[in-house]
Amino acid sequence: MEEVPHPKRIFSGIQPSGNLTLGNYLGALTRFVELQNAGAETIYCLVDLHAITVRQDPDDLAHATREAAAAFIAAGIDPRRSILFNQSQVAAHAELAWIFNCVARMGWLSRMTQFKDKAGKNRENASVGLFAYPCLMAADILAYHATHVPVGEDQKQHLELTRDIAIKFNQEFRQDFFPVVEPVIEGIATRVMSLRDGTKKMSKSDPSDMSRINLTDSADLIEKKLRRARTDSDPIADSLDGLTDRPEARNLINIFAALSEQTAQNVVEIYAGSQFARFKDDLVELAVETISPITHDMKKLMEDPGEIDRILGAGAERAAAISEPILTQTFEITGLIRSRPAAIDES
Ligand code: AMP
Ligand code: TRP
Repeated sequence: MEEVPHPKRIFSGIQPSGNLTLGNYLGALTRFVELQNAGAETIYCLVDLHAITVRQDPDDLAHATREAAAAFIAAGIDPRRSILFNQSQVAAHAELAWIFNCVARMGWLSRMTQFKDKAGKNRENASVGLFAYPCLMAADILAYHATHVPVGEDQKQHLELTRDIAIKFNQEFRQDFFPVVEPVIEGIATRVMSLRDGTKKMSKSDPSDMSRINLTDSADLIEKKLRRARTDSDPIADSLDGLTDRPEARNLINIFAALSEQTAQNVVEIYAGSQFARFKDDLVELAVETISPITHDMKKLMEDPGEIDRILGAGAERAAAISEPILTQTFEITGLIRSRPAAIDES
């Protein structure tokens, strides 16, 4: 029964609730690939149970899940080196989430800004799942005793809640059982903004498709979106300070910096004094160069959905082998009897 927590175990998730965007790619996926290639133990999950906290068409959800898996692989996730699977195939997530529903307090969840944003004015009509969403996210991470979680800036508050849940569980049961996770919010593009409004996050759920670049967009569409991206009529400033009140300009500079793996300061120095039109020529070229090979590989992978399902199934099997014993221990600590022969064999 002894499970010695791994010194460094990476876990992260992305919702398959639509097309993955350039924000997901720069804020999350590129980091996932780097961590894998650095030799860390990496577990990546398509969180379909999170996706259904808001209404999803069943066919679209299954398609988006396979497409997100294809995007991960096309971007460099190797399903032999990383564990790649969809959340609903591993029951431990939902089971542990229930226990955490009983650990977290209503007050904690009421303060979550993502809930407030997504529920909007009509909170009475939001699903209970949307409210409890962060408990499921804590379960995703803690079911593996993961220690490091790479995410974009917007997930910081959810990770703090995950820490609070781990601490409260450990205190309540006088155990040092769940690790207190470290958020990994790193890189140049931890918050990519909408192409239409530089004060809003680029998001797959924005009603305007022109606000985002999807990993499935053609080169022509990427060009059209970037050319139409909002800017202002001033030339590019020669320092970042000159962009403080120009969120759209700052966002395009940041995207350029992240795509070309240099600092935003470097980019403004190169383009100081130029008009945005010239800068956009280079940005289009850079974006197409990065995204088109991914789009191409995703399309090829999507020609064989059976193979994608096989990869997700094999990943789920490996994921369950790690999380099942941790769940069994959690049940034991909590006083929940688990005496099914299968449950005993697995741990
Ligand atoms: P989601 O699409 O909400 O499931 O997000 C999946 C991952 O992508 C999380 O780590 C997010 O923080 C990250 N992410 C989503 N949108 C952006 C964005 N516009 N900029 C940077 N990171 C993002
Ligand atoms: N809530 C995250 C998002 O919307 C997705 C997510 C679910 C996640 N479970 C996770 C991220 C576990 C990191 C770790 O972006």
